[in-house]
Amino acid sequence: MSRFIIITTVAEFDQRVRAAVAGGLHGSVQTLPESAINGAPQDIVHQDPGEPPEVIILGPGVSVDEALKLATVVDLQFPEISVILAADAAANVVLTAMRSGIRDILSPGADIPTIRILLERACLSAASRRRGLSTPANSVRETGRIIAVMSPKGGVGKTTIATNLAVGLGQIAPMGVVIVDLDLQFGDVASGLSLDPEHTLLDAVTGAAAHDAMVLKAFLSVHSGGVYALCAPRNPSEADLVTADHIRRLIAQLATEFKYVVVDTAPGLSEHALATLEQATDVVWVLGMDIPSIKGLRTGLGILEELGLVPQVRHVVLNFANRHAGLNIQDVEATIRIPVDVVVPHSSAIPFATNKGVPILQEGVRNAATKNLRRLVERFEPDWGSQTHKRLHRRAVVS
Ligand SMILES: Nc1ncnc2c1ncn2[C@@H]1O[C@H](COP(=O)(O)OP(=O)(O)OP(=O)(O)O)[C@@H](O)[C@H]1O
Ligand SMILES: [Mg+2]
Repeated sequence: MSRFIIITTVAEFDQRVRAAVAGGLHGSVQTLPESAINGAPQDIVHQDPGEPPEVIILGPGVSVDEALKLATVVDLQFPEISVILAADAAANVVLTAMRSGIRDILSPGADIPTIRILLERACLSAASRRRGLSTPANSVRETGRIIAVMSPKGGVGKTTIATNLAVGLGQIAPMGVVIVDLDLQFGDVASGLSLDPEHTLLDAVTGAAAHDAMVLKAFLSVHSGGVYALCAPRNPSEADLVTADHIRRLIAQLATEFKYVVVDTAPGLSEHALATLEQATDVVWVLGMDIPSIKGLRTGLGILEELGLVPQVRHVVLNFANRHAGLNIQDVEATIRIPVDVVVPHSSAIPFATNKGVPILQEGVRNAATKNLRRLVERFEPDWGSQTHKRLHRRAVVS
């Protein structure tokens, strides 16, 4: 059970927060009058004799300056509490807010699902800080799984697989997943997830975000499926400003904050993709049922073996599978010389979902494609490898 305290003058916002909490956060909400913003933090925190709050929401309707002053003191006296600022914040306010110990910024117009996601994260972060405060300083922090989704050839379904994987993992680990669009020139993760990002990967690797994980989080977009996204730069020319070193640092930073970092890539073996592979725990190879894509994968695998850039765990996804391609899975496996792990059949529901900007795993469509995409997601469940009947690689079948 979490406790939320809100100081706002906007009754309608207060109601949205209450609806967000009632819709799945199992907590109680206490609203304090505007005057509380000038009060002492201990009076706010100890309003109720029960458990102290986990999350305090300041605004809208209160003075941002006063809210930031209060946040600074709360951060010093009660660092385990997550303070959220609900205000229309310009970029300079974001940085001041981060420095004041504000954990997140919420748009006052945010809808209920967005508020819920943010509050859920704030609770998780409060819980992890409580744990952190009671763990020895020299303890090693666990880092998340870094999953690179790759293919030597274009148009084989990388973005489809990556967005569905992220959304599917978001159902297992809400708020524990971030998808990164490394197709820096023509990335379409934003459109695949119907996001209109305020900030992009370029903002995340330059300036303050590059050195501070909390600031970096402020540059991520929040997707309704409980997943964070770092979208590709808006202008293809901006891709040149992003170096392989930027990507190395970014991926490492995200892996300290998220359980799963799913990286969608451009076709081929760009320096950015190679920088990701250096740190990736998993690679998902996507190939279509056509000779150029199959041969391309064999060549790509050979190059990576030579470079010594083979992540610990490999998953091969054969996409666009259909019985009329003049090839079967054995033909494919004979050429790539490794087993196919998951087969995603050709399905008209997939382009439909792409055009709508909602991954089919989020829509809950039931067909052979979603069934097998779920199988791919299951491979990343923490205890998957320990289930003895599930070998890492086994013969896949076209259903
Ligand atoms: N199994 C499938 N059945 C039918 N259509 C599919 C399937 N998988 C992907 N598609 C469609 O194929 C198109 C290309 O897919 P996607 O954008 O995921 O490929 P990509 O590998 O990311 O391409 P690029 O290399 O350009 O980034 C999209 O319109 C998508 O909806
Ligand atoms: Mg793509």
